[in-house]
Amino acid sequence: MKILVTGGTGYIGSHTAVELLSSGHEVIIVDNLYNSNIHVLDRIEKLSGIKPKFYEVDILDYDKLEEVFKENTFDAVIHFAGLKAVGESCIIPLRYYENNISGSLNLYKLMQKYGVNKIVFSSSATVYGDNYPVPFKEEYGYGDTTNPYGTTKKFNEIILSDLCKADENLSCVLLRYFNPIGSHESGILGEVPNGIPNNLVPYIAKVASGELDHLRVFGDDYDTVDGTGVRDYIHVVDLAKAHVKAIEYCTKFKGADVINVGSGKGYSVLEVLHAYEKACGKTLPYKIYPRRPGDIATCYADVEKAKRVLDFEVERDINKMCEDSYRFTVMNPNGIE
Ligand code: NAD
Ligand code: UFG
Repeated sequence: MKILVTGGTGYIGSHTAVELLSSGHEVIIVDNLYNSNIHVLDRIEKLSGIKPKFYEVDILDYDKLEEVFKENTFDAVIHFAGLKAVGESCIIPLRYYENNISGSLNLYKLMQKYGVNKIVFSSSATVYGDNYPVPFKEEYGYGDTTNPYGTTKKFNEIILSDLCKADENLSCVLLRYFNPIGSHESGILGEVPNGIPNNLVPYIAKVASGELDHLRVFGDDYDTVDGTGVRDYIHVVDLAKAHVKAIEYCTKFKGADVINVGSGKGYSVLEVLHAYEKACGKTLPYKIYPRRPGDIATCYADVEKAKRVLDFEVERDINKMCEDSYRFTVMNPNGIE
């Protein structure tokens, strides 16, 4: 298939581009490079043998995005482009609503205008909120989102579901990611966060490289195995492979379908830290801090639907996730350049 990948130079998008190209799909990337850079394209080429066609376009710019649709005929879209920092979304919510909702509306309008009727959308486990017992099941629907970022994901899911009700030819797969971590095992692609990372594994990576002196563990009094927060971590290459299955699934059904993408297992903050220590061969210092506002104790996926519908199961465990993350950190001390 000829696939438009928005946000394709970003962390998950770039790994997905490699898997799509390696599976024989054609990839055209649109990204405004707000949170990624042009050199990612060379890395994708190194891994797949193909340099995807690239447009430096902001999806908020309807006219420029339309040029991309005029110049290419797409079979499907995978929509990663978005802002993703939970804390920042509480400080500048308008920017998040504008980018993640208005930008997406431009894309959906152009898909309609140019007759593109298959889309895979990057949603998040955050849409479950803290209303439900684990494991989170797709049939729960939505919980109360606790931040504007999460609300943009929920709104996009609702918008795409409504579009499917109005257009019987449309196929939308709404993938609810749990916690993607790790890097391509070559050390050539990986996550390059801006500034001090908010997320656990990028933060641990900077402790391992000596850039930060200790991990701040946010809370050790949750009702979990060791009191620290439990999450469902998934290797980014497994997540990328799930997108290849999802885009192929789009050809087999009509309507909107929500699917969790996780490992189905939960690991505590300290368990992840210890796995990372094993991967890098060092003891990594940590201190206990108060709970982080908005965090829940435990979050992991029910993965039965992904297995049943997509025939998808993860292949990489927490040790592999930490080993690959560390390899990328060591091989790219200045990020992707
Ligand atoms: P990322 O920031 O690495 O990638 C997103 C890409 O989108 C970046 O390259 C950025 O430059 C681009 N972008 C942002 N706004 C744009 C715009 N207006 N026009 C064009 N390009 C734009 O993030 P990621 O971790 O790869 O996440 C990809 C998607 O998955 C996002 O929608 C994110 O919300 C979602 N998601 C991520 C996680 C996670 O933990 N990483 C979890 C759940 C969902
Ligand atoms: N944590 C720390 N110290 C840190 C960073 C995180 O102790 O420096 C803890 C958190 O308190 C939490 C766990 O590590 O218990 C995971 O936190 P992350 O920030 O890595 O991830 P979250 O689960 O909070 O959120 C992530 C993405 C969201 C997405 C969600 C889906 O950031 O975009 O997963 O489950 F919506």
